[in-house]
Amino acid sequence: PTSGLEARDWSIRGRQGMRCQASPPSSCPLEPEEDPSVHTAGKTLEPQRSCPSTIELRPSPRLTESGLSMVDWHLVKGMKPPRTQREWEAEFRKYQQFPEFKILNRDMTLAEFKFIWYMEYSHRMWGRLVGLAYIVPAAYFWRKGWLSRPMKGCVLALCGLVCFQGLLGWYMVKSGLEEKPDSYDIPRVSQYRLAAHLGSALVLYSASLWTGLSLLLPQHKLPETHQLLRLRRFAHGTTALIFLTALSGAFVAGLDAGLVYNSFPKMGERWIPDDLLAFSPVLKNIFENPTTVQFDHRVLGIASVSAITALYLFSRKVPLPRRARIAVTSLLAVACLQVGLGISTLLLYVPTPLAATHQSGSLALLSTALWLLSELRRAPK
Ligand code: HEM
Repeated sequence: PTSGLEARDWSIRGRQGMRCQASPPSSCPLEPEEDPSVHTAGKTLEPQRSCPSTIELRPSPRLTESGLSMVDWHLVKGMKPPRTQREWEAEFRKYQQFPEFKILNRDMTLAEFKFIWYMEYSHRMWGRLVGLAYIVPAAYFWRKGWLSRPMKGCVLALCGLVCFQGLLGWYMVKSGLEEKPDSYDIPRVSQYRLAAHLGSALVLYSASLWTGLSLLLPQHKLPETHQLLRLRRFAHGTTALIFLTALSGAFVAGLDAGLVYNSFPKMGERWIPDDLLAFSPVLKNIFENPTTVQFDHRVLGIASVSAITALYLFSRKVPLPRRARIAVTSLLAVACLQVGLGISTLLLYVPTPLAATHQSGSLALLSTALWLLSELRRAPK
């Protein structure tokens, strides 16, 4: 079996269109077209895709490999795109100072640059629009006196989180712009910052959905039996597990760890790969070794779907209203779909549309879990 690190290097080449299913590098009949100056010492030529991982509800930098095309950030000034040829050339010159151009895109034309620039621009403008969609109605409702005291706290926290999300996005992009003279890796954003960005997006999304559901869903008067308490606790634990699995997915995406061991259920020929603890100290493997990161994500994904199945079976013994039953059944269905998507993403060497669907699937799963929690929540006294 291909070791995680070799496989990563190999599979990254595979992403350029020369796939060699589950074969070690040495046995593949296809030779990559080499430019020794850029491919020496493990430098690989994967198109840049370590881009801001936002929740995929619109054209994403991941699909267009455009995440590092805008090399600065201004809240207001950044809204005006270059207009004249001179302005475009100046913008392109700025991009040329950064590692993504120097290592990956040296033959990029101005027209190609404009395309990736506009993709990233629309991503950032969408982010501003989302910010406004929170802040403007909040300010209006506040002024009108329509918000209760607890709701004011909630609205302030959500608006704060939106601003934090934007700042975190830029902090993440910056890590992909830094020169790393000692690194042989392709320019990519830090997987820690990518996970923080995805994590905070998930928190913002969950908090918004939870607030909405609490306000809109009519509440059931459930009898507080011992079984219901256990079911509720179980549902909370399962939701936390789903959240953790999604977060671990950001490390897989950030390290391109979906390109090592593209087999399932075993990793290569083994259940537990040799290089699981190749890095030292041991703790470093959890966040930086692609093999361990993928292994953890698999284990968490399978644990999540097992917990959801157990939750479903347990829920059948508890008398529940119809809506809660539909929520728990939907949770099981979405979980199976999500695991199916994850496995397909892995076996097919992470095709971008499938990876993006898998990311959206994690959001659908989290939403369904929150819906269930909302159906099971305690009625106010
Ligand atoms: C409850 C189950 C699961 C959840 C909630 C989940 C969630 C996620 C998330 C949020 C990402 C990051 C996507 C991104 O930022 O682009 C991800 C990536 C990934 N997941 Fe899962 N996942 C689950 C199960 C699985 C399983 C069982 C597998 C395969 C065995 C798998 C394989 C992958 C792969 C290969 C990636 C990397 C995709 C990329 O590089 O873009 N996932 N997952």
